[in-house]
Amino acid sequence: MIIGVPKEIKNNENRVALTPAGVNEMKKHGHQVYVQSTAGEGSGFSDEAFAEAGANILATIEEVYGIAEMIIKVKEPIEFEYDLIREDQLLFTYFHFASYEPLTKAMIESKSVCLAYETVERGRGLPLLVPMSEVAGRMSIQEGAKYLEKPMQGRGILLGGVPGVKPAKVLVLGGGIVGYQSAKMAAGLGADVTIMDISLDRLRYLDDVMAANVTTMMSSEYNIRQEIKEADLVIGAVLIPGAKAPHLVTRDMLKDMKPGAVLVDVAVDQGGCIETCKPTTHADPIFIIDDVVHYCVANMPGAVPYTSTLALTNATLPYALELANKGWKKACQESSELKTGLNVVKGDVVYKAVAEAFDLPYVPVEEYLQDEEMAV
Ligand SMILES: NC(=O)c1ccc[n+]([C@@H]2O[C@H](COP(=O)([O-])OP(=O)(O)OC[C@H]3O[C@@H](n4cnc5c(N)ncnc54)[C@H](O)[C@@H]3O)[C@@H](O)[C@H]2O)c1
Repeated sequence: MIIGVPKEIKNNENRVALTPAGVNEMKKHGHQVYVQSTAGEGSGFSDEAFAEAGANILATIEEVYGIAEMIIKVKEPIEFEYDLIREDQLLFTYFHFASYEPLTKAMIESKSVCLAYETVERGRGLPLLVPMSEVAGRMSIQEGAKYLEKPMQGRGILLGGVPGVKPAKVLVLGGGIVGYQSAKMAAGLGADVTIMDISLDRLRYLDDVMAANVTTMMSSEYNIRQEIKEADLVIGAVLIPGAKAPHLVTRDMLKDMKPGAVLVDVAVDQGGCIETCKPTTHADPIFIIDDVVHYCVANMPGAVPYTSTLALTNATLPYALELANKGWKKACQESSELKTGLNVVKGDVVYKAVAEAFDLPYVPVEEYLQDEEMAV
């Protein structure tokens, strides 16, 4: 198959959808890879490294879209790219269709095949969202530690303390992927960590695997009110699938917090679990309310594109290979994981939630996958 990797052009997006190692794998399976010049620059991969791995470097994005049967990207295409997408071209990337109607309509019009990273399902998990949660979870402690420093407007406490001085207290709300990674990093730095969740099974698991300086606690308004008074750093890491995050830290709780304490609301992309959080950017990541520092960057992994690119491509490459080896129809017939990734196929919306979001006709994906079986 002919695979195209365009340079990401969304504002501040430095990731790339394939690394030189990925190009090497694709070549080994007999595929041709075309990479747009400087596509890997933001993540630390030069054109030379791609070329050495066997990629053909193309100067323009038009050439990449023009030649490729499958486009692999990171972020959804932006308006400028809509007209470059061809009928029957396979696009494998994050789309988040339900949040943006013009994109959905443009992809319907293009008659391309859109397979979205975010809806690929394995069991009850979303394997192509996990790596970014892992990055954000680990990063939340790094950022929290930074903003606890006095020159950054924090209360001037070192997470791990020192011999003779108590460590800082870290409260993690939500013990899923983000919360697990946050608690692990905070514990590694020597902080006194409490992690809360509403799932007793999850708390049992966390209690088994976490270090001795991590305490598990049932999440409830009462418990949060008690714990937040002592916390130096609070991480918001809650998710209720398909819904806005609940406000677990309310405005009135801030006055009970220590001045200079830091809130990192990782769940800000789902509306945030801290009432006073509103999305910020890497250029201007924090604001202060009631002497409490709020860090609410909605795309935290964007600050560490090298790690994020490798983490993402580790997860996407096996799926991309399957698509390249078999073609999208056969790959989706044989893999329920890839099948759930199909959102828009040749002008039809085949993902129910997307059709419902914009009141568009819904065509069950099986209709497209059965055709092939009948033809065989
Ligand atoms: N800001 C960023 O850059 C960024 C990056 C990645 C992920 N995220 C976001 O981080 C959030 C967490 O993602 P995740 O992958 O860890 O999700 P996850 O599903 O793995 O974990 C969520 C956890 O929250 C728990 N939970 C639900 N309600 C709760 C409550 N009332 N109190 C305590 N815990 C509760 C669930 O039981 C679950 O264990 C999501 O909103 C995700 O979109 C943000």
